Amino acid sequence: MSTLRGNWNYPTLMRFGAGRIAELPDACQQLRIERPLLVTDPGLAALPMVASAVESCRAAGLPCAVFSDVQANPVEANVIAGVAVFKRGGHDGVIAFGGGSALDTGKAIALMVGQTRPMWDFEDREDWYTRVNVAGIAPTVAVPTTSGTGSEVGRASVITDVRDHTKKIIFHPKMQPGLVIADPALTLGLPPHVTAAVGMDALSHNLEAYCSPFYHPMAEGIALEGMRLIKEWLPVAVRDGQNIEARSHMMAASSMGATAFQKGLGAMHSLSHPCSANLNTHHGLTNAVVMPYVLAWNRPALEDKMTRLAAFLGLRKRSFAGVVEWILELRRTIGIPHTLAEIGVRDEHAEQFAPQAFDDPSTGGNPMPMTREHFAALYRQCIEGQLPAI
Ligand SMILES: [Fe+2]
Repeated sequence: MSTLRGNWNYPTLMRFGAGRIAELPDACQQLRIERPLLVTDPGLAALPMVASAVESCRAAGLPCAVFSDVQANPVEANVIAGVAVFKRGGHDGVIAFGGGSALDTGKAIALMVGQTRPMWDFEDREDWYTRVNVAGIAPTVAVPTTSGTGSEVGRASVITDVRDHTKKIIFHPKMQPGLVIADPALTLGLPPHVTAAVGMDALSHNLEAYCSPFYHPMAEGIALEGMRLIKEWLPVAVRDGQNIEARSHMMAASSMGATAFQKGLGAMHSLSHPCSANLNTHHGLTNAVVMPYVLAWNRPALEDKMTRLAAFLGLRKRSFAGVVEWILELRRTIGIPHTLAEIGVRDEHAEQFAPQAFDDPSTGGNPMPMTREHFAALYRQCIEGQLPAI
């Protein structure tokens, strides 16, 4: 049994360690859930790990149903359908089980089962979260099965609005799941390309949180250690998916990224969201592609920070260039494409997506102030592979 195991209460209750999915019924009982609705995606719903999770709940006297009408880059219709199933089945809590899409949908369902207003009224703007009927939010146990999104410790869900093809953030502090079972053994079967893409999402969370200019030393400290774990262990997890030590550290780094990004994100996520909302590109993969271009763009604001990061990571060059070179090497090692063109983004999308990127909530955390024109220029660099000389 791995020693990488513990009970954490930071930022929420986390039962961390290989094999701890066996504690799912106990976790439900701790949150006083008697009739859980397990929300997952259709791919996972067909796997033995979901069947055994449901079976373990039933064996403990907790009638558990599965809702799996969840698409990648989930939409409001997925949430509405889940709310209907929750109410029809007389459920009293949610098990959000899966990658980012399933976790975000499960959290949004848990929010929406007790609301009378439409979901978009709870978008993360000004103080809109105060419109939420807090007593109506159902308790949630989160069970991540990838290491990237960190949504299990997040206080929001990202849902695509199909009316204008934008990703919107639905936010309430109480959307943070009451309990997390972080079982790295659930990620052992992830293929290398998925491990790489979601792992780079975790890196982008830690990195953008670290770079954002807001004052939050606690988040910054977490982000640094998150990046160190990813540097050491993401290549191992991609190369040897059965390495439980690598899987464990990546799962921790993923939760750390989402904890840290309360400090802010930045242009990596601003550029990435319109690509996924319009073209359904993979979120983590898109972040991974744009990562070095965004760093280069932000260079004037980041020289000191990157020097400190390079020293902390033990890079050969303790400088901005050292960090960018490390990221380029990491991307090559784990098979990330170099340009947005390689994942289907075309020249004409630069002008189309730039206003959406500008309006993205992540933009406020970017170290350099951004305009629509800046985003169009940055998109063109990412599409065409024009990385400025470092
Ligand atoms: Fe992300």
